[in-house]
Amino acid sequence: MTTPEPRHITPPDRLRRPVASALDLVGWTPLVRLNRVAEGIRTPVYGKCEFMNPGGSVKDRIGQAIIEAAEAEGSLGPGGTVVEATSGNTGLALAMAAASRGYRCIFTMPDKMSTEKVRLLRAFGAEVIITPTDVPNDDPRHYTQWAARIARETPGAVLADQFYNPANPKAHYESTGPELWEQSRGRITHFFAGAGTGGTITGTGRFLKERNPEVQIVGVDPVGSVIASFFHTGQMPEGEVYQVEGLGNDKIPGTLDLEVVDDYVSVDDRSAFAMARRLTREEGLFVGGSAGLIVHAALERAREIDDPDGFVVAVLCDWGEHYLTKLYNDEWMTEHGHPVESVGVRGP
Ligand SMILES: Cc1ncc(COP(=O)(O)O)c(C=O)c1O
Repeated sequence: MTTPEPRHITPPDRLRRPVASALDLVGWTPLVRLNRVAEGIRTPVYGKCEFMNPGGSVKDRIGQAIIEAAEAEGSLGPGGTVVEATSGNTGLALAMAAASRGYRCIFTMPDKMSTEKVRLLRAFGAEVIITPTDVPNDDPRHYTQWAARIARETPGAVLADQFYNPANPKAHYESTGPELWEQSRGRITHFFAGAGTGGTITGTGRFLKERNPEVQIVGVDPVGSVIASFFHTGQMPEGEVYQVEGLGNDKIPGTLDLEVVDDYVSVDDRSAFAMARRLTREEGLFVGGSAGLIVHAALERAREIDDPDGFVVAVLCDWGEHYLTKLYNDEWMTEHGHPVESVGVRGP
């Protein structure tokens, strides 16, 4: 009698035994080969499945790291409070880590944000303060100013400060980078990521460059963000509105080190959304628009390189569910002028 092939590959060690807490579920996300969207492209392209973190995004890595760094330096302890101005994945990651460690969490969020996002944070026990959207950056009612004030005035509170906190890139230097090095067995040739705070590209890029200076670190920006333009010209253009969420910026954050980046490319909303939809429908990878943006750029470069020995990695930043009312809603797509049929990079 022949032994049947095991249906699943051997689980990594940490799945063979219980882990200590929800925080130990963060990281060691799988690396998956992209197949149908990469048809006709000889360079192998892989997606780093950050949406498989317990909070559904790459930000889980920094939620944990920021809290642990504050504990280590003594600014956060029993009965402490974590404060941040956030509207998205970082809030969720911090709320999850704070819940697991028993801290109080307070977030400020501009009033343009969806009620789903507020409910999600409150589900983890976080307090959410809704602030006016249409106020200047230096107005005390602006959500960043408001959060800073709460952190100053609340005893035992720390501001997570993801755009300036060195624990953010450090988390990626210590986890995302080493994971990719091991998962590719040192064969990675290109790493594609976007920068919101820049933590992912800075920390991961720095680690990979130290291992092999030949690895190409490529930033991907939405058209309208200023980072790609600043990278190429050293000038700060006026930022413009774009719809892809989570990456790009209208300033250069303190946590972004462009020294580790070899190239920066821009991709428009339309291509990003089309590729995200293709990743879901053709690969079974249910991701947000930013993953579509990054994969679009990675596939274009992979086609140009045309090297079967290449090893291109694109970050699949977050889970698609937050976007069911946006890029996964045909009416929303049509209203915003995006075609609902799949378009994007295809084989020849
Ligand atoms: C949804 C989402 N979250 C997080 C990130 C990464 O952001 P950061 O540069 O802050 O590490 C990105 C960018 O790739 C993103 O698209």
